[in-house]
Amino acid sequence: MALLKFLMCSVFVLTFTARAAHMSPSPPVKAAYWPSWFSESFPPSAINTALFTHIYYAFLMPSNRSFTFDLPETTKAELSQFTSSLRRKNPPVKTLFSIGGGGSDSDLFARIASNAKSRQIFIDSSINTARKFGFDGLDIDWEFPKDTTEMEYFADLITQWRKTIDREAKLTSRQPLLLSAAVYYASEFRTYGEPRSFPAAAISKSLDWINVMCFDYHGSWDTTATGAHAALFDPHTNLSSHYGLRSWISAGVPRSKMVMGIPLYGKSWTLKDPYVHGVGAPAVGVGPGDQGILTYVQVKEFNEKTKATIVYDIRTVSAYSYINTSWVGYDDVKSTTTKVEFAQANDLRGYFFWALSYDSGDWEISTHASKAWVDDQY
Ligand SMILES: *[C@@H]1O[C@H](CO)[C@@H](O)[C@H](O)[C@H]1NC(C)=O
Ligand SMILES: *[C@@H]1O[C@H](CO)[C@@H](O)[C@H](O)[C@H]1NC(C)=O
Ligand SMILES: *[C@@H]1O[C@H](CO)[C@@H](O)[C@H](O)[C@H]1NC(C)=O
Repeated sequence: MALLKFLMCSVFVLTFTARAAHMSPSPPVKAAYWPSWFSESFPPSAINTALFTHIYYAFLMPSNRSFTFDLPETTKAELSQFTSSLRRKNPPVKTLFSIGGGGSDSDLFARIASNAKSRQIFIDSSINTARKFGFDGLDIDWEFPKDTTEMEYFADLITQWRKTIDREAKLTSRQPLLLSAAVYYASEFRTYGEPRSFPAAAISKSLDWINVMCFDYHGSWDTTATGAHAALFDPHTNLSSHYGLRSWISAGVPRSKMVMGIPLYGKSWTLKDPYVHGVGAPAVGVGPGDQGILTYVQVKEFNEKTKATIVYDIRTVSAYSYINTSWVGYDDVKSTTTKVEFAQANDLRGYFFWALSYDSGDWEISTHASKAWVDDQY
């Protein structure tokens, strides 16, 4: 078993260039985002904190007039409850709140980040909000700065944010707040929008780490073929986590500041021909689920109910299941643990899940992932 693991790691590591010679001294990050809109069915008190180090409250947005966090009373109550119930847990976890999210107003971020004065108003309010509700840190999920100018704004924003966080910590003699960002799977955009790169130097200097969104490579925007939406490897395209993470390393972001995203959801398609059902098989539309998206729990239900055939695809490191013309690609225990081993073998800081409540009721994926990261090698 140990030998097998060693061999697997060696194969992984060889696929990367310029591997760091030393192990990261930082404690690992095992994080997950908690979508607040599921708070009724999945309250923070239900979180098994033994499996995580950091939990992100998702999401908050600043006001588009004041640029501050003018929160409704219900949200304030929820934030207090979130941090207090997680702090009372044994073991405790660190809490951050995430600002933005997929589909949030990215032009608002551009407006805020475009000048020093509006940046400061936003930053001060974010810090006040974090302190007031007992959070350990902040996260920005701006999807995405849309051109090179907005990438500069993003650099200015995180640079000023870090300065303000450090000053606040000194003034109040408290631990500085953590500052992270959720980012695109690759350090540069080549196929979508204007070609542009993330500001790697500012990120390395100002953020504690980045949450690299290693998923959504395929989806409802392309219904001509099935796809492994979070493929670790893809021999034919750049749509893979291996490509994306390597681009971040090439850009100069330290491995110890990279946290690899793993989806707790799958994507479905309707096959053109029920007898042609591999990864990349011809398709005619999305399949089961909400616009072709199923949480891991729903994938398990689908597999059990329909008695679908389940296949592990070693090439992409993913699982898929199919029955008649329904096809679902997802991450199972094996692909997830392989990805966690990959992250550790490449000296990344850790991994995170989108999203917490999508795992099975018995925490199947989160438990195996947590075990797959070998803590005692530090
Ligand atoms: C600000 O947000 C409000 C409420 O969501 C919206 O109706 C309005 O159009 C927004 N204004 C701008 C300038 O984006
Ligand atoms: C993949 O990215 C590299 C640069 O990193 C580029 O040279 C190459 O053309 C890309 N390949 C595809 C298939 O898009
Ligand atoms: C698959 O097709 C068979 C034969 O038509 C049918 O009996 C079965 O109910 C179908 N299963 C699903 C899940 O669609």
